[in-house]
Amino acid sequence: MIESRDLTGRALRAEKSLLRPADMFLPVERPDFVAASPVMQELLSIAEQSAESNAKVLITGESGVGKDVVARYIHSCSSRRREPFVAVNCAGITETLLESELFGHVKGSFTGAYRDKRGKLQLAHRGTLFLDEVGEMSLRMQALLLRFLENGEIQAVGSDHSQARLDVRVVAATNRDLNDLVASGKFREDLLYRLRVIHLHVPPLRQRPQDVQALMAHFLRRAGRQLEFTEDALRAFQRYRWPGNVRELLNVMEQILWKPNRGLVAAEQLPITMRNGAGLITPLQDRRHHVADDLYDALVNHGASFWEHVYPMFMARDITRHDLRELLRRGLSETRGRYKSLLSLFGMPSGDYRRLMNFLAAHDCRVGFQEFRNLGQSSRASSPKSPLHAATTGEDGPVEIARVS
Ligand SMILES: Nc1ncnc2c1ncn2[C@@H]1O[C@H](COP(=O)(O)OP(=O)(O)OP(=O)(O)O)[C@@H](O)[C@H]1O
Ligand SMILES: [Mg+2]
Repeated sequence: MIESRDLTGRALRAEKSLLRPADMFLPVERPDFVAASPVMQELLSIAEQSAESNAKVLITGESGVGKDVVARYIHSCSSRRREPFVAVNCAGITETLLESELFGHVKGSFTGAYRDKRGKLQLAHRGTLFLDEVGEMSLRMQALLLRFLENGEIQAVGSDHSQARLDVRVVAATNRDLNDLVASGKFREDLLYRLRVIHLHVPPLRQRPQDVQALMAHFLRRAGRQLEFTEDALRAFQRYRWPGNVRELLNVMEQILWKPNRGLVAAEQLPITMRNGAGLITPLQDRRHHVADDLYDALVNHGASFWEHVYPMFMARDITRHDLRELLRRGLSETRGRYKSLLSLFGMPSGDYRRLMNFLAAHDCRVGFQEFRNLGQSSRASSPKSPLHAATTGEDGPVEIARVS
């Protein structure tokens, strides 16, 4: 597990500047960033590389995956780290207020503008501006932002001239699909290209099971507590779908710490949503994401293993015979009908061929291999949208279900 922190441990002091009070934006300390899964380690390393340049970064991912942490991490690794990190949330704020927030305003420019106010862009001079929830910006605001990104010019609300050029590195984040917004005319394509020079997609927690346990250990360490979990409890953590991602995991851990326990947490002490079938990975009612596709992706791209993850789901009837056969079809089309090659593809030990065949025969799940023998290489199963996808391999080891203390 990689866990980064500021090794000096010293809070850096903000430089005095004519533009801002010295103590307004204290430099960001490097946030603790837990990255045990290969996909997150890769993301961390790209984030570090991106920090060396001034290139704009777009961070995407579901709510609670850690986009904020990644943005702060980039800033804290960059040469701008002693300068301000200024965050602006573009959601839930009127267009006028957002414009004034970003570009500042002059006294009297609108009701309530009692004095001149500098915008966040000016406050972020020489530092980083974090545009959170950028997908929520109105088209007019997008046009203003684009103008700034193209020539560094800003014009305060109510002012009749533009001000000096600013040196601001922009990092943006969204949990929306900006391509969809472009297609429906709600987001400017030229702005998307400007913002997405480097694209970091933070995968949902359910697609990186190794991080679940590493994050649990991290939260316990941070709280200065030691807890053990029964095998069943750990299994529930691994199999839960985490719709709220890391934020939800953090919440669950806080609830556990708050409740009385004798140092050992059993499955019965976990929230009900983690124990009933509805919250499990690949819930049966969520057929929009094809179950077999999700399973295949977890096995091939995210270090899950057949015996640790798929087998218990099948035995608990969380997935059907049909799902399992579909999964095998995807695997066999990749291995051109070779069951033996499925072993490594699906994270099983090489000596498990007989065990696998017996299991499939016992449950009437075997799929004929002939139809896959002559398939071309192009018949790969679908994989998640991820800029890091090419960097992830199917060689990740299986996830250990072990005790955390
Ligand atoms: N890899 C990680 N290591 C340590 N803590 C993390 C990690 N990822 C997320 N967290 C923690 O989880 C919580 C949610 O993360 P964050 O606010 O960055 O999510 P987000 O993607 O920005 O969510 P939203 O879309 O709702 O704004 C925070 O408390 C954050 O510190
Ligand atoms: Mg956020």
